[in-house]
Amino acid sequence: MAVLVAGGAGYIGSHTAVALGEAGRDVVIVDNFVNSSRRAVDAVRVLSGAEVALVETDLCDGDAVRRVFAQHPITEVVHFAAHKAVAESVGEPLAYYRNNLDSLLGLLEAMLDNGVHRLVHSSSCTVYGQPEALPVSESAPLGAESPYGRTKLMGEQIITDVCAVRPMDAMMLRYFNPVGAHPSGTLGEDPNDVPNNLVPLVMEVACGRRETLQVFGDDYDTVDGSGVRDYIHVVDLAEAHVAALDVLAGGYRGAVAVNVGTGAGTSVLELIEAARRATGAAIPFEVCERRAGDVAKIWAATDLAAGLLGWQATRNIDDMMADHWHWQRHHPDGYRR
Ligand code: NAD
Ligand code: WQD
Repeated sequence: MAVLVAGGAGYIGSHTAVALGEAGRDVVIVDNFVNSSRRAVDAVRVLSGAEVALVETDLCDGDAVRRVFAQHPITEVVHFAAHKAVAESVGEPLAYYRNNLDSLLGLLEAMLDNGVHRLVHSSSCTVYGQPEALPVSESAPLGAESPYGRTKLMGEQIITDVCAVRPMDAMMLRYFNPVGAHPSGTLGEDPNDVPNNLVPLVMEVACGRRETLQVFGDDYDTVDGSGVRDYIHVVDLAEAHVAALDVLAGGYRGAVAVNVGTGAGTSVLELIEAARRATGAAIPFEVCERRAGDVAKIWAATDLAAGLLGWQATRNIDDMMADHWHWQRHHPDGYRR
């Protein structure tokens, strides 16, 4: 019995593979390394102490996916593999729809062909678009505003439709803003080229690779005018996947979307303060124009995760910054060093 971790060499997938191994599951990582490194899989093997098989293939190749099911005793699937850069998706919509939807369709077909019915799928708070009320609950109106976000919405719809008529059960986890790294400092986020997200950029300033941070707007209706997000430690997020698989194994039937956040908002300026505490660095910043498409503030309602998964986040913003910094300090070039 093994869990197929699609995209398991990536940032969230690799941390989840460790948590799954620690929970006693054998893991089969399938990845084409389009946005990750084999070294992450090496680190997963060391940290998890579990059997971790690796299949290097493109999940959009349906025949290759079927071979994975033929060659490994897969009983459950966690699907992370996707392109995830919002701005890039606006310029390359077809690449996003092709990759993010083909990989999902092929996995669902192979699961049905092989009698595998337990799926945990990576969704995102981006499906809420501009939230009308906070904290945002799973029943809030949906409306993604980028091709990337729409692949997440469509993914949820496809899974829901399949679960309605076939033996398939799914937890679609809507992640808020994952940050941090494994506390060992050997596994973490390794963005290609220029990072898109706040925390990797903050860490680049902290280690002197970048002179200043740009703060996108200080005139929002928030605690200090800067944007507010629900940052969640990637190890807490990884543990939510183990909890979701356990609930599916316990007999949960159907498809459900579940927020995975802390329930607390942190502003950009508050996050910079936390990063200063963790790093001891000054982290200079300049306030710039708002970034197009940004929401002012969003954080998760967490009661469904608590009630259904029996899970809640345990790590705070200081833990997130300390662990991210530990990784960044030892791996300034990610897995390349
Ligand atoms: P990531 O890029 O680090 O990991 C994705 C992994 O999938 C990579 O290892 C990549 O090589 C692999 N992959 C992509 N397409 C593939 C394909 N066709 N075949 C095989 N492998 C493929 O991203 P992440 O941050 O770990 O995100 C994981 C999932 O969580 C994604 O679905 C993403 O949309 C979702 N998500 C991420 C965030 C975030 O801020 N990181 C927030 C919400 C949701
Ligand atoms: C966080 C805050 C910025 C960079 C993105 C995706 C979303 C989801 C999570 C996948 C905002 C501010 C940022 C900078 C800044 N991913 N910021 N200066 O935009 O909440 O969400 O990642 O599903 O879909 O859109 O994350 O880290 O880019 O920004 O001031 O240089 O930091 O304005 O308030 P975001 P982020």
